Amino acid sequence: MTTTGGTEFDVVVIGGGPAGYATALYGASAGLSVAVVERDRVGGTCLHRGCIPAKEFLETATVMRTVAGAKEFGVQSGQPILDFSVSQGRKQKVVDTLFKGLVGLMQGRGITTFSGSGELLPDRRVRVSGSDQTIELSGRNVVVATGSIPRTIPGFGIDGRLILTSDEVLSLNRAPASVAIIGGGAIGCEFASMFSDLGSQVTVLEALPSLLTGCDEDVVAVVARSFRKRGITVHTGVTVTGHTPNGSGTTVTFGDGEQVAVDAVVVSVGRRPLTAGLVAEGTGVVVDDRGFVVVDESMRTGADGVWAAGDVVDTPQLAHVGFAEGILTVKGILGEPAVPVEYGRVPWCIYCHPEVAFVGMTEGQARQAGIDVMVKKDPFGGNSRARIVGETDGLVKVVTERTPEGGAGRILGVHMVGPWVTEQLGQGYIAVNWEATPDEIAQFIQPHPTLSESFGETMLALTGRGLHLG
Ligand code: NAI
Repeated sequence: MTTTGGTEFDVVVIGGGPAGYATALYGASAGLSVAVVERDRVGGTCLHRGCIPAKEFLETATVMRTVAGAKEFGVQSGQPILDFSVSQGRKQKVVDTLFKGLVGLMQGRGITTFSGSGELLPDRRVRVSGSDQTIELSGRNVVVATGSIPRTIPGFGIDGRLILTSDEVLSLNRAPASVAIIGGGAIGCEFASMFSDLGSQVTVLEALPSLLTGCDEDVVAVVARSFRKRGITVHTGVTVTGHTPNGSGTTVTFGDGEQVAVDAVVVSVGRRPLTAGLVAEGTGVVVDDRGFVVVDESMRTGADGVWAAGDVVDTPQLAHVGFAEGILTVKGILGEPAVPVEYGRVPWCIYCHPEVAFVGMTEGQARQAGIDVMVKKDPFGGNSRARIVGETDGLVKVVTERTPEGGAGRILGVHMVGPWVTEQLGQGYIAVNWEATPDEIAQFIQPHPTLSESFGETMLALTGRGLHLG
């Protein structure tokens, strides 16, 4: 493809979040001329209002826990006292450094960034409405990557003081003394864990029968037990009906007229795609009734040369899925062979304490699909490194398809909960996506003593001969 510059590009990307900047960086690496239209700052939700700041605060929570538990290791320290404004400052420094790095990277690759709101017009044109001018860009290809925003619920208008979404939580200057979290999914559990470690009294209100729907039930049980032990109150299967502000706080009503008085409410009931005002008439791009841009498995929309990637399409709302979709899109643009993302086998990591990480089918999903399964679980209690670090809550669980001979065949799912499992999932991810069997994976040596030995041990046990696990 040729480089044109000016207002004509090989690729115009609307939205500079993970899906958008991955498309831009990967496309530019391949020699395409790329423009990114961004109305806020490149980096998107992930960098400014999501993954990065949330994990930064969760790290503060970890430091609090570590200091509080230091005595157990013979290290004398007083009860830790939190200065949340320092934590806020550190978070901002991390975000700003990464932001500067990203801007530099994009400039270095010759990517042109246009500041303003992009609207997709027919014939792969994009109107950019900036604060002082409106211009029109033209792309041989256009990639829509405008992301998502928090969903809200009726009766809980976001005011940034009493009622918050993740956007507002991440700019708080102090942890509320008590907080109700509506929705016990990934965001809800991460915030519940964080606020509890920071000293808040936490109540989680979840509509479905359990926390972390979609995770394996043995994993959820570990998280639920840990939350209970730490004094987090969890109500599942409850409908939240409203709230009544009173002085500095509010009283939330749920279930059969039950109430909880709190200083703040966090609404974490999912995210919705950001497509309002995005697609003009006559483009050929289809937006479904929930606001998602409709794409095929190669990220092509209904309009020739128009693609979409990231949270704006109805696939798992994960930054790394956005990266993968961006790369897939560029390969499609280049006409290169590309393997579609296998959404049932992407890695999931949830950074509550204890951490959760998984890939592939849960035991329940496999059974529901009519698969004869063979499962092994190795609790971290038997792992020497877990004993050393003093974090023994958790397990590794591997779900396999039983062979006709009654052994463990193809690995369908790897589910982990416990210390640093988000950093340990890699081997499980490869095992599931390689469609490997425990016989194959058990050949590999795990270093000793490491947390990853639990993964190796589970595989060994699935071959019929474990060292520590029967
Ligand atoms: P979610 O879809 O994971 O969880 C929302 C929860 O709220 C569900 O369990 C749902 O049953 C519940 N809910 C919905 N309406 C409710 C109501 N009126 N009352 C009580 N409960 C209600 O969405 P979440 O946690 O907001 O996260 C948004 C997206 O971001 C998800 O796709 C999530 O996977 C992703 N994400 C991933 C993270 C990670 O992987 N570490 C971290 C944060 C977000």
